[in-house]
Amino acid sequence: MDKAKKRVFSAIQPSGTLTIGNYFGALKNHVAMQEDYDCIFSVADLHAITVKQEPEKLYMHTLELYAIFLAVGLDPEKSIIFIQSHVPAHTEFTWLLNCFTQFGELSRMHQFKEKSKTHSDNINAGLFDYPVLMAADILLYNTELVPTGQDQKQHIELARNVAQRVNGIYGDILVVPEPYIPRTGAKITSLQDPSKKMSKSDSNINAFISILDEPDTIIKKFKRAVTDSEALVKFDEESKPGVSNLMNIYSCATGRSIAEIEKEFEGKGYGDFKMAVAQSVVDVLSPIQAEYKRIISDKAYMSKKFTVAAERAADIANDTLRRLKEKIGFYI
Ligand code: TYM
Repeated sequence: MDKAKKRVFSAIQPSGTLTIGNYFGALKNHVAMQEDYDCIFSVADLHAITVKQEPEKLYMHTLELYAIFLAVGLDPEKSIIFIQSHVPAHTEFTWLLNCFTQFGELSRMHQFKEKSKTHSDNINAGLFDYPVLMAADILLYNTELVPTGQDQKQHIELARNVAQRVNGIYGDILVVPEPYIPRTGAKITSLQDPSKKMSKSDSNINAFISILDEPDTIIKKFKRAVTDSEALVKFDEESKPGVSNLMNIYSCATGRSIAEIEKEFEGKGYGDFKMAVAQSVVDVLSPIQAEYKRIISDKAYMSKKFTVAAERAADIANDTLRRLKEKIGFYI
């Protein structure tokens, strides 16, 4: 690892097949950051069990997510790409950090409030403690930058607060991380209800485009996307949230600016616009899907890569864990 480069950490939950929200909001930037940063990426399987998971599905989604990581261009030779539960330091560090986190601050987390509503039959302690596990992920690796979509900003703020609190007591032993949120793509919304974020666990499959959706499915879903009755391709998140979301997606997929897109579709109807958006997404996803098919069939290759990565991750994580335990006063 190159000490001159800043450390980056991010993770994604294997709670379903990834959406283009995850791709444009996070993964695409993770790939780009590998050149200039010292990157660590993780499949956050411990986070995934804060909501009910069927064992076979969790197992399959974990491998699938690892294969997607590699298929989009995360490179195990450049970055450490590991599975969270393979490094036990994450759970142990979470316990330590729990004792420096207040009940009140966790009660204020938006995601906890939302998930308590959508999973009202299972508001478990892990769901409440989720942000502390995330803080442990980040702080174990001396992370300077955390690239995520907009929805994770509050959790990164919490990690910063916890790190500052620990440092206030024991001296500067934890690096205080900064969020790194992209200008476009940070919040891709549902195709069926643009007031909600696009989510891989949405019960309505028309609400999201999965990274592995077939071209026909992608076109069908975009055709059904909610817009408005104005027939005007103009960016206005307040009064035209559906159209603005499609413009954001098109901008992420083509690299064109919002102004260029408004010009391109001047005088054209939503039918043409939706087809262009769908085609641009098909063009982005096709090569990823081809690569995914190749990688997912080679489990031995993936297994070799995540085993080595977990050892490298554990070396860094165990050092941070030991330093904090010493400071707290554990007899080591
Ligand atoms: P997760 O698995 O929900 O999402 C993974 C990444 O995708 C981003 N994202 C989006 N970006 C734009 N538009 C959307 N609709 C959209 N939906 C999701 C998320 O912001 C995220 O970057 N708690 C995290 C996983 C995690 C983590 C960490 C992240 C665990 N430990 C440590 C950073 C650092 C999560 O549930 O992401």
